Amino acid sequence: MDGGALALRFHCIHPGSPFRFVTLAVHPMCEATMSKPPARWRNVDTKVCVVGLGYVGLPLAIEFGKRFETTGFDMNSKRIRQLQDKIDVTGEVSAEDIKGSRQLRFTDDSEALSAVTLFIVTVPTPIDDSKRPDLGPLISASTTIGKLLEQDCIVVYESTVYPGATEEVCVPILEHESGLTFNEGFFVGYSPERINPGDSGHRLPDITKVTSGSTPEVAAFVDELYGSIITAGTHRAPSIKVAEAAKVIENTQRDLNIALVNELAVIFNKLGIDTQAVLEAAETKWNFLSFRPGLVGGHCIGVDPYYLTHKAEQIGYFPQVILAGRRINDGMSEYVFKEVVRLMIMNRIHIVDSNVLILGLAFKENCSDIRNTRVVDIVRLMESYGANVDVHDPVVNAGEVEAAHGISVIDKPGEQQYDAIILTVLHDAFTGLTAGDLRALGKPNHVLYEVKHLLGAEEVDGRL
Ligand SMILES: NC(=O)c1ccc[n+]([C@@H]2O[C@H](COP(=O)([O-])OP(=O)(O)OC[C@H]3O[C@@H](n4cnc5c(N)ncnc54)[C@H](O)[C@@H]3O)[C@@H](O)[C@H]2O)c1
Repeated sequence: MDGGALALRFHCIHPGSPFRFVTLAVHPMCEATMSKPPARWRNVDTKVCVVGLGYVGLPLAIEFGKRFETTGFDMNSKRIRQLQDKIDVTGEVSAEDIKGSRQLRFTDDSEALSAVTLFIVTVPTPIDDSKRPDLGPLISASTTIGKLLEQDCIVVYESTVYPGATEEVCVPILEHESGLTFNEGFFVGYSPERINPGDSGHRLPDITKVTSGSTPEVAAFVDELYGSIITAGTHRAPSIKVAEAAKVIENTQRDLNIALVNELAVIFNKLGIDTQAVLEAAETKWNFLSFRPGLVGGHCIGVDPYYLTHKAEQIGYFPQVILAGRRINDGMSEYVFKEVVRLMIMNRIHIVDSNVLILGLAFKENCSDIRNTRVVDIVRLMESYGANVDVHDPVVNAGEVEAAHGISVIDKPGEQQYDAIILTVLHDAFTGLTAGDLRALGKPNHVLYEVKHLLGAEEVDGRL
């Protein structure tokens, strides 16, 4: 608490809740606008419902279900049946994790949610074909919740959006569907997710969580609530818009940093200098940021900047740096494709009817998520030049890949089969591979190219 702040402690939550007291740090500037906590919260049971049980929602529901009566709701009935059988096809949580969350149950029936007092929204926020925010899932989730809202319910949004979306888009829907007045009948919060799929070293409780609320009292309540499941602690942002903006710039900054090293990689390749060696040398300076070139796919880093640029354009500012980064990163799969084709031509290998092996399809390492994976671009470009492409990825779900992209993932690449081998995604299953292992898959004359710098520059024919 900073020097000028006052601490208020009041009895606010129902007696059965772990939150008997909420401590509010109140800056004197805010004191005038701060009202007493609504008395009506005193005897309300905190019953949590997480709406949207994907990569973000499921781990969150599990943590809440360890402490609160929690319902995980998803419109995807198949997903709900799997979760009821303790199966998480995303691979993010184990059957033991689900079993250990004793107060968690799953449903696809919104009518079973009538007693919920706190909704948490973790539905997807994709972009459409024109790279504009697609708020469809957020609108549909808000419509469902709005019909269920009762006096004093709180709705916390976690999905990544542009600053203003919660109050400008979601709140009017909640008001319309519930007939209640915002900040009188119901309240909202925003607490952006920072989950990193495939990263077992950074789990939900270990990552500091930003929280916010539509009134100081709600902000305190939401912060305390998350504080009970996040061991790394929370950061209470001064407003919902600040919390929304913080999330979207986290991913925008990352996107731009990767775009910079991708552009450097293109320049250094033209100069005949090894990018990895340059980065290793530059990183010896204390303030040089460590980023690696690569394909930027998925539905966060490659998508979220468009939410910010959309909002900026709406208010008449046309971002240049952010969109330049997006263009560079979106162009990297074509760059990799052209590099491999150039190396094949230089080695007198015909592209038409050549056999190309791609190792790794997921959008990132150790993650089964195949949405917006840029590896698919390389497959399509190779096919458009008449190559036969085999894709091997031990982490993805082959059925899902077939359904989403029409690509049959092969179980095991055969030896001496390929004219070109491209290592695109560095799953743990690939990190033990040597140049010899990979070259054994190639015909006597082949090209070995890697995107992720597993091998030495001298061991491959080309790398990003
Ligand atoms: N996955 C990540 O790495 C990550 C990290 C941080 C933030 N985020 C953000 O979190 C949000 C969720 O991402 P995700 O990766 O968990 O998405 P996801 O696609 O894995 O899961 C979303 C789930 O929501 C369900 N759903 C969609 N609309 C619904 C509705 N109206 N009612 C009920 N359920 C509905 C879907 O069936 C799906 O199971 C997005 O805004 C994303 O940008 C994702």
